[in-house]
Amino acid sequence: MDELLKISGLRITTLRGKETVRLLDRVDLSIRKKCSFGIVGESGCGKSITANAVLGLLPYPLRVSEGSIRYDSRAGEKELLKLSKKEMQAVRGEEISMIFQEPMTSLDPIFTVEMQMAEALSFHHPDLSRAEKRERSLEMLRQVNIPRPEQTLSSYPHQLSGGQLQRIMIAIALMNRPRLLLADEPTTALDVTIQAQILRLMNSLKEQNDTSIVMITHDLGVIAETCEEVAVFYAGQIVEQAEVTELFARTAHPYTQGLLRAVTSLGGASRMLYTIPGIVPPGGQWLQGCRFADRCDRCTERCRREMPALTEAAPGHLCRCFLHSEEVEA
Ligand SMILES: Nc1ncnc2c1ncn2[C@@H]1O[C@H](COP(=O)(O)OP(=O)(O)OP(=O)(O)O)[C@@H](O)[C@H]1O
Ligand code: SF4
Ligand SMILES: [Mg+2]
Repeated sequence: MDELLKISGLRITTLRGKETVRLLDRVDLSIRKKCSFGIVGESGCGKSITANAVLGLLPYPLRVSEGSIRYDSRAGEKELLKLSKKEMQAVRGEEISMIFQEPMTSLDPIFTVEMQMAEALSFHHPDLSRAEKRERSLEMLRQVNIPRPEQTLSSYPHQLSGGQLQRIMIAIALMNRPRLLLADEPTTALDVTIQAQILRLMNSLKEQNDTSIVMITHDLGVIAETCEEVAVFYAGQIVEQAEVTELFARTAHPYTQGLLRAVTSLGGASRMLYTIPGIVPPGGQWLQGCRFADRCDRCTERCRREMPALTEAAPGHLCRCFLHSEEVEA
């Protein structure tokens, strides 16, 4: 297997009353080794559920109804959707680690940073002594540029700033040297300067540890600063996918063009914020044809009737829009 992670035909459904509703529709993604891959899109388009599905963390009644998630682990190739709970626990943290969308709530307020870091280590390395765990925790805190690591270890979460907590979350996620880090909006809650520092930090940690990163964000500016490849999600589907330089040079999908106009961090704070008119339809309540039709100023009669297929607009550059291909989704 060339890729580290290969998601094929992933479909996620939920139950509304007695009705089964689709939240994610046949998503294919390949994450290469030592690559940083971005997933971008507005709220509710399916970014987090995709990442959660990889680690078997979908909350009931959400479930994977179709597809496969293959992972090239240190012990050989694995189908993550077929792992038992115990096997998945062995993968979590040591092979694949996740920074959750709301990190402030993932740290426990009643335990010190040292206890929480030690716990992350203990699961995969039960034989380490207390002193060894402390040493490893200090080393990780230094790696994420925490100024007074000893003092920080004995602190409780409420004694630390948002930026420090975010660094600690990254340190915990990297404790066991995972090969894949799923970072779900890791900087959204932070101000712009700290955000830039954390993104730089994640990039350098990726180089040092040979970790692949899946960066989930609603901001194409974050993607531009951190990723090599990117998939644009809209209403539970991929609508555009390419290498980042290619995507910015030849943005093909009207939705991505709208997202680009909404980027703040690239254009500077003084620019007027543009927002794409309309909202993402709620999960599963999608239009019959192109799901972006209601918000697209290039929409035609055909767009409302038929769903465009995801096809190559240029070599390696995928786009789901009739402006680029006549092909209809089967
Ligand atoms: N626990 C849940 N129960 C029911 N529906 C859910 C649940 N979690 C997510 N969904 C639905 O699944 C769809 C995708 O949600 P997801 O959280 O993946 O969006 P997202 O792209 O991560 O958005 P955001 O940028 O707001 O984090 C949405 O329609 C959402 O309402
Ligand atoms: S298929 Fe039509 S409605 Fe959809 S993005 Fe393209 S032009 Fe717009
Ligand atoms: Mg999310």
